[in-house]
Amino acid sequence: MAGNDWDRVPIDSQSIDAPLSRAAVFLTLTVAEGPEPLRAVCDVLDGLDDLVKTVGFRDLNGRLSCIAALGSALWERFGSGGKPKELRPFAPIEGATHRAPATAGDLFFHIRAERADLCFEFERLLLEQLGGSVAMADEVSGFRYFDSRDLLGFVDGTANPTGRDIGASTLVGSEDQEFAGGSYVVVQKYLHEMRPWARLTKDEQERIIGREIVSNAELPDAASGQKSHKTLATIVDDRGVEHDILRDNMPFGRPGHGEYGTYFIGYSRHLWVIQKMLERMFLGDPPGMHDRILDFSTARTGAVFFAPSPRTLSALVQAVQTGSR
Ligand code: HEM
Repeated sequence: MAGNDWDRVPIDSQSIDAPLSRAAVFLTLTVAEGPEPLRAVCDVLDGLDDLVKTVGFRDLNGRLSCIAALGSALWERFGSGGKPKELRPFAPIEGATHRAPATAGDLFFHIRAERADLCFEFERLLLEQLGGSVAMADEVSGFRYFDSRDLLGFVDGTANPTGRDIGASTLVGSEDQEFAGGSYVVVQKYLHEMRPWARLTKDEQERIIGREIVSNAELPDAASGQKSHKTLATIVDDRGVEHDILRDNMPFGRPGHGEYGTYFIGYSRHLWVIQKMLERMFLGDPPGMHDRILDFSTARTGAVFFAPSPRTLSALVQAVQTGSR
């Protein structure tokens, strides 16, 4: 766990620590050029909490929540001068065998609820409000699959931080005081090759992931040679400190179209941590020994966003609305 100081200041953050839900929509949008679309987007962002209440109140047990996050180029259009220290576009990775592409995205919404209809209704109203100021870059509806399994059959999310550790792993602290309480968000849409995966033995699948499929128990890390996904995604810095991230991956798919996927979403206090995970997965450690999960999973999208604290978001929005920026 990273040493932290965020818990000594009042916590002002979006609902990043909302519990993993039964349903989610991952919405990536681009914002049209010019000041008018930007102003229209700001008006919608300004009313986002009210929209969550409007839809969410229809079933409070449905626990509707929505996180809004901004890409690097959109952030610059706000013209606020300041920008979160690590915020930049997704850095594509070209491995010897697999690549992680960068794809378009200015604005990202992570909509979560216990009911798919709440997510649907919220998304419908949100897009109606945004109108022609945005264009759809990617839209994925995810669902909880049995005991939080991905479509490869493994329980996904086990190593996530819990309780107070969530804030320490996901929220920017005094290292970037102006943007404290915000979180870096990295998303990637993966499509799986289900037939070749199903042809592997259970042992082979377990060695690739690094956990037992039925019990979910961890397998020991390989001391050398091919490492499991779990080991490649474990980041330890020079001081021996392990850096966690919060993942809320969701399966999605259309069996009739042969589409089976995992939507990866990671929240992190430090963007470099997720970047390092991706490099270890795609370039391999040792180099050349990439994450074998990628032999059965192709990354179709890749984007980076920053989910600012509510205070920062409303300051950005107000500045545009009052024309002071
Ligand atoms: C095809 C996409 C992916 C699938 C199906 C997948 C699935 C899994 C599964 C089943 C586990 C083990 C259980 C758990 O701790 O959650 C795991 C662990 C993990 N994954 Fe992934 N993952 C995917 C992509 C990614 C990506 C792109 C990243 C980061 C950039 C990532 C980061 C992690 C981390 C940090 C862990 C926990 C490692 C630990 O034990 O400390 N995963 N993943």
